[in-house]
Amino acid sequence: MANMTLSAALAEQDELSALVRRLRELGAQRLARKVVTVMSAKGGIGKTFVAMELAWLLDAVLVDLDWDDGNASTALGQHHDRFARIPLLDALETEKPPRPKRSGRRPDLVPCHPDFAVNQPDPERLAKLLSRWSQDWNRGVVADTHPGGSDSTLGAVGAADLIVMPVVLGTRELNALEGALRELVGYPILLVPNWIPSTPPAAERRRLRELADRYSVAVGPMISTYGWLRTRKLRTVITAAPTYSRRTTPVVRELTAVAGAVIEHAG
Ligand SMILES: Nc1ncnc2c1ncn2[C@@H]1O[C@H](COP(=O)(O)OP(=O)(O)OP(=O)(O)O)[C@@H](O)[C@H]1O
Ligand SMILES: [Mg+2]
Repeated sequence: MANMTLSAALAEQDELSALVRRLRELGAQRLARKVVTVMSAKGGIGKTFVAMELAWLLDAVLVDLDWDDGNASTALGQHHDRFARIPLLDALETEKPPRPKRSGRRPDLVPCHPDFAVNQPDPERLAKLLSRWSQDWNRGVVADTHPGGSDSTLGAVGAADLIVMPVVLGTRELNALEGALRELVGYPILLVPNWIPSTPPAAERRRLRELADRYSVAVGPMISTYGWLRTRKLRTVITAAPTYSRRTTPVVRELTAVAGAVIEHAG
């Protein structure tokens, strides 16, 4: 936007805000009663970032299945120290759907808790519960998962109408991806290249394309590298801001493209 006039920049903002509103309406309609699971075979590659922003952009309930403090709940200001009841664990006991927590500029959230680590239902039961909750709420669900294999991740994969896998174009990340794709043959998967440098490595791009073709999975729009993201302190999602800044506009634009691809593949 460096060379843009102020009025052109404002017009672009209006257009982007309108696009986000439209996506949320579409998401609410087309993803109602569907489950989108964000997972990856490698840790720290943007699952939680993508899950939080997608949940907002699709007007879905974010169900946090990661009990570590690097999770979405903490990132959204819902650290487990702060609540008396634990809706996720209560729901496992009572069989009643948890009531998502609502607060401004964040997706509706079912937060996670450290005790979930040892209280995970078996995969079949969790898959059934996630599907049932999305039906009871009449909303889409975006489930964020714990890094590494666990019963809850398997359950969320089992419930998924679409699995969104962020992928980083690195050697070991692609090795891990290949292993995961081999295990998940037949599941509906959308790969989302994340953390892409301005000059993406050509060999890794080719390898990603080959893997996607070999395992018949879709590759969605990519997300660039944003140096400021890692140290961002705000406990809100970027796409939920009332206006977008010069800094956030490009990432919001890319995330809307990813959300559109999710609606196409899951909706
Ligand atoms: N495209 C990107 N550019 C720059 N930073 C990014 C990008 N995507 C994610 N990040 C940052 O990288 C860090 C790790 O991301 P995130 O926590 O979403 O990964 P994760 O896959 O959920 O990790 P874990 O496996 O531990 O759950 C966060 O600080 C996040 O904001
Ligand atoms: Mg995470």
